[in-house]
Amino acid sequence: MDGNRTVLVTGAARGIGRAIATAFAAGGDRVALHYASRRAEAEEALDGLAGSGHVLVQGDISTPEGAAGVVAAAVEALGPLDVLVNNAAVNVAHPLDRTTFEDWQDAWRRTVDVNLLGTAHVTYCAARNMIDHQVRGRIVNVGSRGAFKGEPDHPAYGATKAAMHALGQSLAVSLAPHGITVASVAPGFVATERVADRISAAVEEQSPFGRVAAPEEIAAAVKYLASPEAVWSSGAVLDVNGASYLR
Ligand SMILES: NC(=O)c1ccc[n+]([C@@H]2O[C@H](COP(=O)([O-])OP(=O)(O)OC[C@H]3O[C@@H](n4cnc5c(N)ncnc54)[C@H](OP(=O)(O)O)[C@@H]3O)[C@@H](O)[C@H]2O)c1
Repeated sequence: MDGNRTVLVTGAARGIGRAIATAFAAGGDRVALHYASRRAEAEEALDGLAGSGHVLVQGDISTPEGAAGVVAAAVEALGPLDVLVNNAAVNVAHPLDRTTFEDWQDAWRRTVDVNLLGTAHVTYCAARNMIDHQVRGRIVNVGSRGAFKGEPDHPAYGATKAAMHALGQSLAVSLAPHGITVASVAPGFVATERVADRISAAVEEQSPFGRVAAPEEIAAAVKYLASPEAVWSSGAVLDVNGASYLR
């Protein structure tokens, strides 16, 4: 049943993560709202959550210690985890023909450290916690349409999002015997602070609906994939892109 679950949402100070935290809290769940650097926004997001028992968790998931610390802090505050949402990510521009080799390496390293290794390490710690407490937990990754459509100016981002989808599919198989489901959403453009300066009429016209998504539309898909009704969607990569890219 939705409600009364413990939920860790990474990167939830603003944008899609905040909308996801809001959606779970509105359903009666207790949320560990994670942030890395935006403490003021995270506090504002926490204040806006319905219900009670929510907590803030800070940490940099780009190191194994940081990733483990985020999960440990969430478990300490809320108890054993029922749901993990891997939302935290970075998106660094590094178009090949306009980027030095040094900057190229830096962009790849930063992106892989957060989007792929950070996600993998947070997932490991959360899944071990679920297994140890015999929780039939739910793990949902926020991937991206860019994994399929390409990210010409952000190739490391596209590659790590494809890797997140693949990680989710592998773990959907290996964690199913423990009753744990793993699925991903692959959003197209979403109106968040991070991409506000990239949303143009041309971007809106990518979708036949003539607009980009609201963060709440991604949150609804995440919440569904974390629900009891979605067990049979384990392993899915759900397009949430307003028919802007059909694969
Ligand atoms: N917006 C879109 O159009 C779009 C489309 C497809 C997929 N997505 C995906 O949706 C998710 C949220 O995107 P958004 O647009 O809402 O962006 P966002 O506001 O930048 O959210 C991402 C969060 O990740 C956190 N983060 C970054 N580096 C971190 C680190 N080293 N350790 C821990 N946390 C870290 C940041 O936390 P702090 O702010 O606290 O530093 C940030 O708030 C991302 O996975 C993104 O790839 C977005």
